[in-house]
Amino acid sequence: MIQIPYINLAEQWKNEREELLPILDTILGSGQYIGGQEVSRFEESAAKFCGVKYAVALNSGTDALVFGLSALGVRPGDEVITPPNSFIASTAAIVHLKAIPVFVDVSEDQNIDPSKIEEAITKKTKAIMAVHLTGRIAAMKEIISIADKHGIPVIEDAAQSIGSKYDNKLSGSIGKIGCFSTHPLKNLNACGDGGFLTTNDEAIYKQISNFRNHGLIDRNTVEYFGYVSRMDTLQAAILNYRLEHLPALIEKRRSNAAKYRNLLDSKNVFIPEDKSFEFNTYHTFVIQVDKRDELKKYLLEKGIETSIHYPIPIHLQPASRNLGYKKSDFPVTEKQAERILTLPINQYLKEEEIIKVAETVNQFYQ
Ligand SMILES: Cc1ncc(COP(=O)(O)O)c(C=O)c1O
Repeated sequence: MIQIPYINLAEQWKNEREELLPILDTILGSGQYIGGQEVSRFEESAAKFCGVKYAVALNSGTDALVFGLSALGVRPGDEVITPPNSFIASTAAIVHLKAIPVFVDVSEDQNIDPSKIEEAITKKTKAIMAVHLTGRIAAMKEIISIADKHGIPVIEDAAQSIGSKYDNKLSGSIGKIGCFSTHPLKNLNACGDGGFLTTNDEAIYKQISNFRNHGLIDRNTVEYFGYVSRMDTLQAAILNYRLEHLPALIEKRRSNAAKYRNLLDSKNVFIPEDKSFEFNTYHTFVIQVDKRDELKKYLLEKGIETSIHYPIPIHLQPASRNLGYKKSDFPVTEKQAERILTLPINQYLKEEEIIKVAETVNQFYQ
């Protein structure tokens, strides 16, 4: 039986129920179910929280990536540089625009290796998509400097990194566009799908604000054909409420991570270090270990649920069959795919549960 679950959304609702139910009741009674003040308020608060001028609320993080790439001018046949170890949506967004994902291997911290980006740039490269996996921002100083040298924009897949910082700059404010997910499993989570896009560029902001609502520039006029990717009012209200509590949630996850670092035996467990200029928000706490599958099974037998983000690299997915990649193309990613294990780190874990997880991991290797 699972004693320590990997996630605990039921506990989150239990903690919020009393305050959130009346807010949801008011919205349901108002008849305003799409858009409206809650959505505008969320856009303002999200922009402020992420340190940018504009945020556009959308239906998912995937839509933020597709619309963001398109706004950067990515068209059929263009190339976009991205790592092969993200959630599938990062690459899918490129493919949906009929553009070509060009993978670049990652570093020991699971983020794109900046020293390998330049050799992947060609005349067709239209954008670099950095993914801030696990809640750690990719090496943006190096990435931006390469991108600037070649005049290529950087789009941040910040789906896992709301509130993270790099050199004191916030996730989603460093590249031209930031793309966030508010999927139920994210640190800032809705009770359904959701996402948003951040930018300091007014033209991009206006373009995507219209595009997500059929391209309507007023009630009856469409200048360019658009799409439907609006945020529900109920979800925006939940996000407004949860955004206020996000700093406390991030602190709890950071403190859980610090406890794991103290307790886990570094002889057997590799955890990428937190560099002095990084502020990591730990969307996931990923360790790298030998005998990963056996360890996962052992933990489950002891009632501890874990996860793997992600066991099959994107270039080795059946869906990538026509992209021209093969096994051994990205050795670091492929090795990590066999060694990574995500431990529970949610904000409702008790200290004794973290101790139990860490002790059980250590025991396995004794
Ligand atoms: C790195 C990354 N990119 C993109 C996405 C897509 O976000 P969504 O599920 O909101 O479409 C996710 C999460 O699901 C993600 O983790």
